Amino acid sequence: MVEALRETVRSARAIVLLSGAGMSAESGVPTFRDALTGLWAQFDPQQLATEAAYRRSPALVWDWYAERREAIARVLPNAGHRAIAAYQQRHPGRLTLITQNVDGLHQRAGSPGVLALHGNIAEDRWLDAPRACCQKEAIEPGRPPRCPVCGNLRRPAVVWFGEMLPQAELVAAQAAAEACDLMLVVGTSGEVYPAAGLAGVARHAGARVVIVNPHETALDDVAHVTWRQTAAQALPALLAEPG
Ligand code: APR
Repeated sequence: MVEALRETVRSARAIVLLSGAGMSAESGVPTFRDALTGLWAQFDPQQLATEAAYRRSPALVWDWYAERREAIARVLPNAGHRAIAAYQQRHPGRLTLITQNVDGLHQRAGSPGVLALHGNIAEDRWLDAPRACCQKEAIEPGRPPRCPVCGNLRRPAVVWFGEMLPQAELVAAQAAAEACDLMLVVGTSGEVYPAAGLAGVARHAGARVVIVNPHETALDDVAHVTWRQTAAQALPALLAEPG
């Protein structure tokens, strides 16, 4: 399996890697659907990660993100993140990285040009369209922080359920999926669209689709190959230079 896949990578002209929460599991970041431990176990992420939830209970949702931010700040990119970044450094422009993860670990590992389809948990933006009074330098601290003049709240710069994805990243991701001849789908359950649809776009455009995931996924029938392996084990083996 590994040698054949290494040959597939070697002979690929343009590679797209689509990553999900499983990419960060070996860094100690719980995957999205098991992130709700302890205090949060009583909530369904679809209830917390929405604009309506934020407007209804801003402090609760802000605290949930603050806790996740603190947890993510304490972890490090793993061997999988590092293998991708090293490959990109050795072969500039040959691997386009698309991630659903908001943890910023690909970026911290040194990957350039990450297409972060669901935003970045470490960043904030205004909840309502900012007015002249909404100045980042004059934000009033709080749970959540707000504009001291009009009360506009700050919110995590992540894509919530039901929200549009950042158009520039999505258009670039679709173009990369259409143009690649190899797509590696790593650590995603493949349940959330439009990100999950990129595997079908690549397959339809003639690319070879390889899934790396210890478990079955909703995209298994789109793949030519499914490798039941973890990201931190598989990617160094797959992307390392020939010995
Ligand atoms: N290596 C690779 N894959 C792993 C590992 C690992 N060490 N551990 C778990 N996985 C796999 C699981 O088998 C699962 O298929 O990672 C996947 C995680 O799936 P989800 O938790 O559904 O995360 P993801 O697919 O990224 O969710 C997509 O949905 O929740 C929203 O916006 C959120 O970006 C997220 C999107």
